Amino acid sequence: MDPFQGSSEGSGSQKAETRLVTAGRDTNAQKGFVNPPVVRGSTVLYPTAEDLHAHRGEFQYGRHGTPTTKALQETLMALEGPRCAGVGLAPSGLAAVSTALLAVLKAGDHLMVCDNVYSPTRSFCDGMLARYGVEVSYFDPLIGVGIESLFKPNSRAVLLEAPGSQSFEMPDIPAIAAVAHRHDVLVIDDNTWATPLYHRSLELGVDISIQAATKYIGGHSDIMFGTISANVGAWPIVSRMIRLLGVCAGPDDVFLALRGMRTLAVRLAQHYRSGLEMARWLADRPEVVRVLHPALESDPGHAIWKRDFGGASGLFSIVLRPKPQAAVDALLDSLTLFGMGYSWGGFESLAIPFDCTAYRTATQWAPGGPAVRLHIGLENVDDLKADLERGLAAFNAA
Ligand SMILES: Cc1ncc(COP(=O)(O)O)c(C=O)c1O
Repeated sequence: MDPFQGSSEGSGSQKAETRLVTAGRDTNAQKGFVNPPVVRGSTVLYPTAEDLHAHRGEFQYGRHGTPTTKALQETLMALEGPRCAGVGLAPSGLAAVSTALLAVLKAGDHLMVCDNVYSPTRSFCDGMLARYGVEVSYFDPLIGVGIESLFKPNSRAVLLEAPGSQSFEMPDIPAIAAVAHRHDVLVIDDNTWATPLYHRSLELGVDISIQAATKYIGGHSDIMFGTISANVGAWPIVSRMIRLLGVCAGPDDVFLALRGMRTLAVRLAQHYRSGLEMARWLADRPEVVRVLHPALESDPGHAIWKRDFGGASGLFSIVLRPKPQAAVDALLDSLTLFGMGYSWGGFESLAIPFDCTAYRTATQWAPGGPAVRLHIGLENVDDLKADLERGLAAFNAA
């Protein structure tokens, strides 16, 4: 088997790649067309007063779903696997995170957050949840079963990101989930990096799995989107909060997310292959002190990645040998294929400098040099190497 094909685990007889193509399709309902239409709708008409009073009908109100959202949700459920009881759709990845947290938490609860979490998620926890009386604390992503000593009687949820999308520490999800469940604590995972194609976190004990579908599900840097997948225990509270908040997504974005799903397997396999090749190439460069990529054998999170993930995406970081910021800026400014931008997961390569020092509270960020996060897109890797070669020459010369 091609190792870069990633996980092909099936639920039932079909492999993941097949389910990505076949799930959520109802050719008869579309009069033969392969894809559902972009259904734009708020009002749903009821044929009789009796139907109206009984709220009868597959669709009742635009905010609660359309044939387009149904096709996307069925496809996501087929990818997540048998433990997925439902998938909620949100207008951004951050909205998916905040909706899931609001679903689970109330005033007086304690939320434990992985210190490597996406920084705006952290801002939501500190700036919003704390204001509404939720106690928020942070923990070392590598804590494993040691998390048990941090639980309090009011602990309600653990929020993980596996791996962190800048620093790439890899939490041990099954170990943390096993301890959390013994304490009746729910586990929420931001699964944006690997997507459920390469990491079926619900199968590993996570209760709510979130994706910033803005990234690899959309895959073309042209939508903002979020998804919230939940197991049977968590789905009722998630779906209720979605209704209470009025969270829904625009029809064009729903359609584009569904279209992205159909090609996710081939795109992600190429991001995985190219990303690992670039990571290995960079690890041999004298300007690079460390490469933070869990699929590299030398990475501290490699054993967990190998056990729990079927593949890797194209996002990883490098730590350069210590030099002033001007040298890093010279590197960035000399790149022509790698653009400077924050949202990743599209077809294009990106390079962005980062520094976690200011917002870490449970761990110290001291990587040993300036850090740059790279997204390896779908360009030819020889061209990408030539671009970085130019950048590293500018770094050396500065
Ligand atoms: C790991 C992770 N989670 C969530 C988000 C938020 O997604 P969105 O930009 O769709 O709000 C991002 C965005 O960069 C992210 O990297």
